Amino acid sequence: MRASTILGGLALVATASSSSLPRDVADDLVLSPELADLIESAKTQVIQEVTDNEEKLRKRGETPSCTIGNLVFRREYGSLSKTERLAYVNAVKCLQSLPPRTPASVAPGAKSRFDDFTVTHIQQTLSIHYSGIFQPWHRWFVYQYEKALRDECGYMGYQPYWDWPKYAAAPQDSPIFNGDAYSLGGNGEYIPHNGPVIEPPAGIGGGMIQLPAGVGGGYVTTGPFVNMTVNLGPVGGTADTLPGPLGGLGWNPRKMKRDLGGAMNTRYANYTTVLNMLSTPNIDKFRLVSEGVPYTVEIGPHGGIHYTMGGDPGGDLFTSPSDPAFWVHHGQMDRVWSIWQALGGFSTKRYTDLGSGNYAHITWANEPASDYTKLSDVIDMGYAAESTTIANVMSTTSGDFCYFYL
Ligand SMILES: *[C@@H]1O[C@H](CO)[C@@H](O)[C@H](O)[C@H]1NC(C)=O
Ligand SMILES: *[C@@H]1O[C@H](CO)[C@@H](O)[C@H](O)[C@H]1NC(C)=O
Repeated sequence: MRASTILGGLALVATASSSSLPRDVADDLVLSPELADLIESAKTQVIQEVTDNEEKLRKRGETPSCTIGNLVFRREYGSLSKTERLAYVNAVKCLQSLPPRTPASVAPGAKSRFDDFTVTHIQQTLSIHYSGIFQPWHRWFVYQYEKALRDECGYMGYQPYWDWPKYAAAPQDSPIFNGDAYSLGGNGEYIPHNGPVIEPPAGIGGGMIQLPAGVGGGYVTTGPFVNMTVNLGPVGGTADTLPGPLGGLGWNPRKMKRDLGGAMNTRYANYTTVLNMLSTPNIDKFRLVSEGVPYTVEIGPHGGIHYTMGGDPGGDLFTSPSDPAFWVHHGQMDRVWSIWQALGGFSTKRYTDLGSGNYAHITWANEPASDYTKLSDVIDMGYAAESTTIANVMSTTSGDFCYFYL
């Protein structure tokens, strides 16, 4: 299914219609026992699998790399203590103060270690989304960011995640964005505006989409990142974005903007959305729910949450890792995928199958038509971190990994 055949031109998003609003909102914003059970059962299965695997290997005289003793759990941002949140915030600031590894000849806009990650993302945006490498690539990307925070900035904790539905009615009031000293910074200042019109990058099918507005839109004026400088980008993604120098890799210092609000979050990333994701039978269907169909109104929770942050750089497909909240969003992306994998049982296709649908190729939604992504394909981190293969990252409890989610 080509995005371009589904929809051309401008589409208006129906944010919950008034007749269905009260019931749907109530249902979609409450964690159901069914979803809670699924999440709990995934965790139980991971613990069981790690235990069994350890026992099996030890019987053979081998030492497993991932054991119950070193299995770590990434946690929801709001469940961290204030001290833990502050430690995370300070580690991010530290990364933003360390010198870049990216040579100025490659990206003169890269001014810090934090920026190295954005450069890698900008350079590869069109091959790492709606392609077979999308999930493995971003899993490794988040892991390497977490590793940099720990190894280079002395952070003792792990990468937290943004449980999208938990704060869907008003993400701007959540512990992630309430603008206190323990948050990742507040919403942008309110300025009356329409929601973003997103438009496909050149050469990509699909039409322009009008999305709901948030309740910010201006500069972030509260919280630990008020003085943060966005160095790279923008590249594009929203119709009113003027590209920065050198295709976004040049230096373009500016303050961060955000446009958080409940409309987009509620519409695209509520508890029903997550239940729908976890209920999908195979990776192709999972990805259709998760990523939607690009440049149609069904942009899925992945896009829905990116545009919930909105603003600059959060609303820019390419430069989005320069908003510190990118990392808690992709923590949750990885979490829901990990839970879905575990629910299928170990030694199943969920740990090896990259799908056979439109998003399973090496090009964006298979445009232009291309080969399938393979497990042996390389995940290239550029100057940000070391590279690996897809096969190495398919399970969060083998290879370099030994983590799961609480
Ligand atoms: C931002 O910069 C101003 C002026 O240098 C300073 O007073 C303030 O403490 C800084 N805020 C944060 C959160 O770093
Ligand atoms: C919840 O999300 C689904 C898509 O995942 C959407 O169809 C539904 O309208 C959303 N609920 C509300 C109240 O917006």
